[in-house]
Amino acid sequence: MSADTHIAEGNDPVYVTDALIAEDIDAYLEKHQHKTMLRFITCGSVDDGKSTLIGRLLYDSKMIFEDQLASLENDSKSVGTQGGEIDFALLVDGLAAEREQGITIDVAYRFFATDKRKFIVADTPGHEQYTRNMVTGASTADLAVILIDARQGVLTQTRRHSYLVNLLGIRNVVLAVNKMDLVDYSAERFYEIVSDYSHFAKQIGMDSFLPIPISGLKGDNIVEKSPHMPWYQGPTLLGHLEEAPLSDTAMQDYAFRMPVQWVNRPNLDFRGFTGQIGAGSVRPGDPIRVLPSGKTTRVKSIVTHDGNLDLAVAGQSITLTFEDEIDCSRGDVIVQADEPCEVADQFEATLVWMTDAEMLPGRPYLLKLGTQTVTATVTEPKYEVNVNTLEHLASKTLGLNAIGVVNISTDRSIPFESYATNPDLGGFILIDRMTNATVAAGMIHFALRRSQNVHWQAVDVDRDAHAAQKNQKARVVWFTGLSGSGKSTIANIVEKKLHALGKHTFLLDGDNVRHGLNRDLGFTDADRVENIRRVGEVARLMTDAGLIVLTAFISPFRSERQMVRDLMENGDFVEVYVNTPLDVAEERDVKGLYRKARSGQLKNFTGIDSPYEEPEHAEVVVNTVELSPEEAAEKVLEYILR
Ligand code: ADX
Repeated sequence: MSADTHIAEGNDPVYVTDALIAEDIDAYLEKHQHKTMLRFITCGSVDDGKSTLIGRLLYDSKMIFEDQLASLENDSKSVGTQGGEIDFALLVDGLAAEREQGITIDVAYRFFATDKRKFIVADTPGHEQYTRNMVTGASTADLAVILIDARQGVLTQTRRHSYLVNLLGIRNVVLAVNKMDLVDYSAERFYEIVSDYSHFAKQIGMDSFLPIPISGLKGDNIVEKSPHMPWYQGPTLLGHLEEAPLSDTAMQDYAFRMPVQWVNRPNLDFRGFTGQIGAGSVRPGDPIRVLPSGKTTRVKSIVTHDGNLDLAVAGQSITLTFEDEIDCSRGDVIVQADEPCEVADQFEATLVWMTDAEMLPGRPYLLKLGTQTVTATVTEPKYEVNVNTLEHLASKTLGLNAIGVVNISTDRSIPFESYATNPDLGGFILIDRMTNATVAAGMIHFALRRSQNVHWQAVDVDRDAHAAQKNQKARVVWFTGLSGSGKSTIANIVEKKLHALGKHTFLLDGDNVRHGLNRDLGFTDADRVENIRRVGEVARLMTDAGLIVLTAFISPFRSERQMVRDLMENGDFVEVYVNTPLDVAEERDVKGLYRKARSGQLKNFTGIDSPYEEPEHAEVVVNTVELSPEEAAEKVLEYILR
């Protein structure tokens, strides 16, 4: 097939130019390696002529090879869809067919080059996963081409694409008004569309865009100025792509920022900090600051593969050495000493939700920003945006493709900037901790004031002091299992025995807590997450008071049990899985709830129409079919008192 590029998400580009035989590749790379590279994204659907346009760019930039061209000409003739002209869409659709055979690649990256520049175009299929694909494709783009069918004008999908492009911070937008041949190359029609679009652009805060009247099929204003539209004085599409500014270049005038990818320590004499400069420039001798610690020193040298540098700028990958030995590790950000970025642990941000499983407020996710990874929880959305109408809607959660504004809190402070000023330090992704799937992309607006003004108060009589006075080790014994599995019964026996041994204990029980602290919560996934979050915090406070806390909650999700585990010190969280098969719990049906659930009177019942995720690494597992409640309690005690 054609010269095509697939970039695995997050990896460096790998050019898969299967049209080239091995010895060609060296010559080819040599020829192109000193050119700048523009990344852009095309937004539009097949109906707008997207495939044809991309095919045309590949064709006119002569990156299609002779033999393919011959076969393309043949195909076009035999298919005959474009009346004997070459059907450029065939080029791209051939790739789509390839895609369907194997792994699904959401975004296809194509590579082409002209004498002036190299290009990577992210082609995002416009089906229902459009948001996810666009976010993936646009996150590294310098420029976006928004395609409009001149006969149709500005459509809902044009607005949606433009909203996303603007949201993702792409400042260089081309409005390609396509199929001008089908509207008789009418200037009037073109200006009508441009005026419509200007209106909308203003509404979403898009500062500027460049409208170009084109025909992908006929080649008007793609490479050559169109003889059919003498009224248009601007650049051709390719001409503009060759001249458009690169994001990296734009970031060069900004204050220096470099997220540390790794610490390079080949021997005791050398300690360097490697990363890609996200913004600004750096020279040996520059005063710098390491965040979040805030320690300062000066740059000693800038080391690269090709020797030491006197100056390095945004976009370059380098290793820095320092004048002084100060702490600096992966995830830290090196910044200009007198112009540091902010450090905080609570933000307002826009989230684009990218997976079927809906967002659960309060659930811990991994947040990756630059080279940092922290644990983060998200609040209920302040509002969700209807991308088609730009309306703000009230919402409790976010589903697939939804965009909303939320508050986020992280488990430790991180250096960041607003996405609008620096996408490198303001853009992040959220990852599900259990499945490792990327569930959302986010853009930080600003830090919440309270994160800077609420501090931990150091207390003199601490957790250890409390526990020591009680002559015990504080911990949480967390019982989990289906409703009716026997959690409360066993926990109750364990508490009685601990009490008899003179231990200071407290039992938190699901049914009881739901009458008080958590009376506002029901049994949706989101409510269960919040239930466990609160109980976890209460249990944690009680261990601070030196108590042995026993809890009996279904706690059906691994994520939240892990969250509570993470709240405790190592070894202070004992997970007890009360393993009772569903049919046994249902047979017992102590509270008659299973019967109600089966008859449809009770919704979201665990094990029936709401999931239970079994523990994978519980400290203690008790099987209540094999063990009596007394025996199960003994087994738990044995573990605690070991
Ligand atoms: S959890 O899932 O959020 O951990 P929790 O342990 O607090 O649940 O409460 C479970 C108890 O609430 C059950 O033992 C049962 O008595 C009662 N209950 C009422 N409705 C449901 C339901 N839909 N699913 C599970 N338990 C329910």
